[in-house]
Amino acid sequence: MTDTQDLVLWSFPTRVLFGEGAATQCSVEALRLGGRRALLVADEGIEAAGLLGSIRGALDAAGVVHQSALDISSNPLESEVLSAARAYDTFNADIVIGVGGGSVLDVAKLVRLATTHPAPLAQYDDAIGGSKSISGPLPPMIAIPTTAGTGSEVGRSGVVTIQATNRKTVIFSPLLLPDVAILDAEMTQTMPPMMTAATGMDALTHCVEAYCSEGDHPMADAIALGGVRLSHRSLEIAVENGANLKARGEMLKAGMMGAVAFQKGLGACHSLAHPLSTEFGMHHGLANAICLPAVLDFNRSTISDRIAEIARQLGVRSDDANTLSFECAGAVRALRSAVGLPSDLRSQGIEENDLPRLAALAFADPCHQLNPRRCSQDDLLALYRACLDDV
Ligand SMILES: [Fe+2]
Repeated sequence: MTDTQDLVLWSFPTRVLFGEGAATQCSVEALRLGGRRALLVADEGIEAAGLLGSIRGALDAAGVVHQSALDISSNPLESEVLSAARAYDTFNADIVIGVGGGSVLDVAKLVRLATTHPAPLAQYDDAIGGSKSISGPLPPMIAIPTTAGTGSEVGRSGVVTIQATNRKTVIFSPLLLPDVAILDAEMTQTMPPMMTAATGMDALTHCVEAYCSEGDHPMADAIALGGVRLSHRSLEIAVENGANLKARGEMLKAGMMGAVAFQKGLGACHSLAHPLSTEFGMHHGLANAICLPAVLDFNRSTISDRIAEIARQLGVRSDDANTLSFECAGAVRALRSAVGLPSDLRSQGIEENDLPRLAALAFADPCHQLNPRRCSQDDLLALYRACLDDV
């Protein structure tokens, strides 16, 4: 008999619709889920880009009445979640449709929590075991991403800044998973090149770190490698020509696959990236893009074969596994440069004397606990130093 400590959970539960123009299928999906009164959660940028028109039209045609909650910032606040939840209640809504980037989709997920569970949201903080207090059912939700990177549409968590502590708080529960994700390349084609590049590098980093992380998850591993391959094939094209819907679609797949895969775990790169965003406001995908090559070199001594496999998916050609693993970081640097992203922390306003404080914060971040090579605080400091200047 196997000890339960040896058991692992492999789970891929989300229904996903993929295709150009698929966003209009939200009306069919809403009806299938029993929705007749939809709260559309988006933001003013999504509205200004004209991305809500076809969705509203499809809902109107299907007789699904709707109202919009658009007051959501890029680092969402508890007050924004609570305000959208009040709109849900006042409208007597029965389904949430989230349309936006990772932040908007996170808010959309949390609206369903706030409308069914008593505030404050802080009591559901994953860091204090808050997921145990989340019980179903939550209202149904459809997620329509307008960026290709976070994969929030297939993720089980939402991040919100809690007012009382001014701290970004992760709320986690499988119940937060959207019921349907609709991946429609047309919804991402207005994304500007730098945003396409940074979110795409986040997707790539999710795939790389999931594949490298500790744990036995062959399905996540295969999906992660597929996501690396798609990112290599399509990110540069999507950045150069935003109207290329095939490349846009492939990056949507890569973003989703990265988030499916990282249920296995992430690694040191995300621990390094998180403080760069909270302390310096750096875009999360850019922070990952700058840090990932150094982390690959750091991990090479522990998982050379896996890093060689990633290099293969990134287009490096060699019959020698050592050569492949050695050249993996260079392949990531080449992609980062090809999509026009900066390559060093100093250009982002970070100085040598900032690094010890950042390393302490990175060490406190839990992501590196599943990194394949153990990381001390000094290791993380050395990794930041390796990213300070271009190499
Ligand atoms: Fe990420």
